[in-house]
Amino acid sequence: MTQTRLLISALAISLLACQKNPAMAKETNVTQEVYGKMPDGKEVRIFTLANKDGLIAKVTEYGAILVLMETPDKNGKLSDITHGYDTLAGWLTNKSYFGATVGRFGNRIKDGKFSLDGKDYTLATNNDPGGIPCALHGGLKGFDKVLWTGKVIGDDAVEFTYLSKDGEEGYPGNLTVSVTYSLNDNNELKWVAKATTDAPTVLNIVQHTYWNLSGDPATTILDHVLTLNAGNYLPTDKGLIPTGEIAPVAGTPMDFTKPTAIGDRVNDDFEALKLGGGYDHAWVLNKGEGMRLAATVKDPKSGREMIISTNQPAIQFYCGNFLDGSDVGKGGVKYARRTALALETEGFPDAPNKPQFPSAVLRPGETYEHVIVYKFSAG
Ligand code: GLA
Repeated sequence: MTQTRLLISALAISLLACQKNPAMAKETNVTQEVYGKMPDGKEVRIFTLANKDGLIAKVTEYGAILVLMETPDKNGKLSDITHGYDTLAGWLTNKSYFGATVGRFGNRIKDGKFSLDGKDYTLATNNDPGGIPCALHGGLKGFDKVLWTGKVIGDDAVEFTYLSKDGEEGYPGNLTVSVTYSLNDNNELKWVAKATTDAPTVLNIVQHTYWNLSGDPATTILDHVLTLNAGNYLPTDKGLIPTGEIAPVAGTPMDFTKPTAIGDRVNDDFEALKLGGGYDHAWVLNKGEGMRLAATVKDPKSGREMIISTNQPAIQFYCGNFLDGSDVGKGGVKYARRTALALETEGFPDAPNKPQFPSAVLRPGETYEHVIVYKFSAG
């Protein structure tokens, strides 16, 4: 063969490969490696997503967890702005749901009981704020503690899939779940959870990353300035279960309709704050169709800002009140009280027991879809 013919056949082969695998058409920004092994010997992978500005997100098959998110501050210095662990062994001890994909039902179900289509279901009660037992975050072994199967999709995404079997943690129906993380060149991290079922079930799949935008996890987030696109919130009882009331935030320390430092009112003498030990409530997002703004949070010192949009009706704002230094995380840091905040877009907590709340029921033939976009900037 002449040089030219060789070149033509090489070109034809690579064109064919590109058609078969669109990921090859553009240089991929996703890499993967083995992260470690589960106690039963199964291999666990970790994926790294990187974009043109140098932002990095790492995600793992264990718990479909966001392991790390590095973003630049106002001077361009990259830091990880999430709580978590350095190794898989650390993540296996994750009792605070750092970075995790939480399900089948994120947040609380009163008494660990609900009924659906006239049938009663009992779940494990794995949490007891105020001494009152409830089901929290999917149960003893929720989605945050199972091994998902990861796959690179296109040039900027990783998809995790998991089959939650009928009866797992007490929930009915075989639930086929996928969670996709993607990082684009507009500095947006997108998380999409989708699910279908073969029998009626309830669900609320939630992303539970803890953020400290300063990049210094030894400092509190009390100076972070938060805005919530929410005129109402859900008051709770002592067990942190919504009472069913939808209360206006106006004139209370729950009002984040204007940018406000978290520490300004967190210790106010206000019943909801006393029950939660600080902010730990669901805010009802102002009405809107499809994707809407949920929250903006800014750290004045580093200049980092994160804007969260979602298609869900509520957002749980939890300011790390239960962190007590017993979680020893990345770099050996003991995560102390209020050193991070979680902003979990969601359906309403305890919706399976509250007919007046938006329904959390998924039936065969329907597709659940929860989308979150986190947009990062600094200035
Ligand atoms: C959620 C809850 C909190 C707490 C954390 C996990 O954010 O609202 O009460 O349980 O999860 O520690």
